[in-house]
Amino acid sequence: MSQDSKPESASVSKPGQDAVPGSRDEAIEGLRMPPKLMLDLARQAAELVVNRIESLPGEMAWDGEFRQGLIDDLKEDPPEKGRPGQEVLERAARDILPWTLRLDHPRSFGFIPSSPTWPGILAEFMAAGYNINACTWLVASGPSQLELVVIDWIRRWLGYPEGAGGLFTSGGSSASLDAFVAAREAAGHPERGTVYMSDQSHTALLRAANIVGIRRECIRTIPSDRSFRLDMEALKASVLEDRAGGYSPVAICANAGAGSTGAIDPLEEMAQFCSEEGIWFHVDAAYGGFAALTEAGKRLLRGIERADSIGLDAHKWLFQPYEAGCLLVRDIQTLEAAFGFRHNMLQDTQWGTNHPNFSDRGLQLSRSFRALKVWMSIQMFGVAAFRRAVANAMELAVQAEAYIQGSPTLEVTHPVTLGIVCFRINPDDAALEETALEQINRSVLAQIFWNNSAFISSTSLRRKFSLRLCIINHNTTWDDVLETLQAVERFGKEALKAFGE
Ligand SMILES: Cc1ncc(COP(=O)(O)O)c(C=O)c1O
Repeated sequence: MSQDSKPESASVSKPGQDAVPGSRDEAIEGLRMPPKLMLDLARQAAELVVNRIESLPGEMAWDGEFRQGLIDDLKEDPPEKGRPGQEVLERAARDILPWTLRLDHPRSFGFIPSSPTWPGILAEFMAAGYNINACTWLVASGPSQLELVVIDWIRRWLGYPEGAGGLFTSGGSSASLDAFVAAREAAGHPERGTVYMSDQSHTALLRAANIVGIRRECIRTIPSDRSFRLDMEALKASVLEDRAGGYSPVAICANAGAGSTGAIDPLEEMAQFCSEEGIWFHVDAAYGGFAALTEAGKRLLRGIERADSIGLDAHKWLFQPYEAGCLLVRDIQTLEAAFGFRHNMLQDTQWGTNHPNFSDRGLQLSRSFRALKVWMSIQMFGVAAFRRAVANAMELAVQAEAYIQGSPTLEVTHPVTLGIVCFRINPDDAALEETALEQINRSVLAQIFWNNSAFISSTSLRRKFSLRLCIINHNTTWDDVLETLQAVERFGKEALKAFGE
């Protein structure tokens, strides 16, 4: 290797400096790093990450930068020569990675946060280090067997029947997509296929329906009732009308934890209706599914076990790093019938017997080894710790609701379900118009955003602007919730005063 083409890091980086002269540790060769440098950089990366996690409570939950600032900082041509690894890691940790919503901050309550466990993070590293492609049994028999094991744990947590199976996906969106493909094929891929979901369903389902070729005008958005649960009568009427009009229902979708409110659709009634009508029943449990770990969650999700397919996100309430979605189906043949295509180049993967090739179960051929995260986390902490973490989050949400009910400034806008608290500034004695309330609550949201360490978000409940806390972080304490609510009250009082109330 000529001196010219040698990356700078071999000679100037601190990690690796004390390599034995003349040994393989000495220099970077091509795209290969000497083992000592690899270890030094890995240690540095681990220290950066651990320090970040430890310092989270003292940080703001959100940091962002406007586009121009980031363009100025980051725009550059790719360097022709490599730079010292230590500097590259430091720069990533200083200039790129902090400019985010810190979803795992204990006061990160906006949207749907996520707080991964350390074993899950390590599993990502190990799976990448072992370069696992969990595509087929031939290529990854150990990982494939482990995926079967972990999927079966989830099946049992949900009370899903034996024989049901599935796979890990990138997230809830791709789980819905794979489910809709299976549903469409099971329905015989009809010309005028329709799907049904509530007006509270996630846009991921709309996108998935669109991708599988359901025409936009054939996606039925069924109104929800006062509790934001799908209205059964409206659903039945819609299906009846479609059948009479020559349409073919492909799938009915239920929310098991709608994003805005945590609302759970009437799962048992929907399951019954789907079974009577011979329509595929898909449950979007991306947010709420892992509540099934707890007794209270199991009760709330009763009926989920009758679904034809269930999408869940382990990167939400099972405390895993992104991406860790999964899809379970009652009859695994429905997935394999939809996705089991053969290619000559892959003919050797028809190897051995009595095993799945996970690439025959979904969109992806090359797949990262997501099951390892869940497995390593459960192995190291045990299921009981996860159950406690989910239960604790649900209890904090109930406690928050009680606090709001007792506050003269705040109002609950939807009863707490599955860890989601919807509320707003609306003093008992103020009698304010909706537009005024929206203005006041928007200004409080902005104050929290800029001037408080917490991050909260908002939603619109039948045009009622609401603040919203989603409490699912295993590190969140009552103090985190209380001080955030107190900050909302404080900013609310200031906003009311400015408004002349
Ligand atoms: C209820 C619900 N469904 C589906 C999704 C989409 O999941 P993902 O972002 O993992 O693709 C989300 C994401 O937050 C969700 O909350």
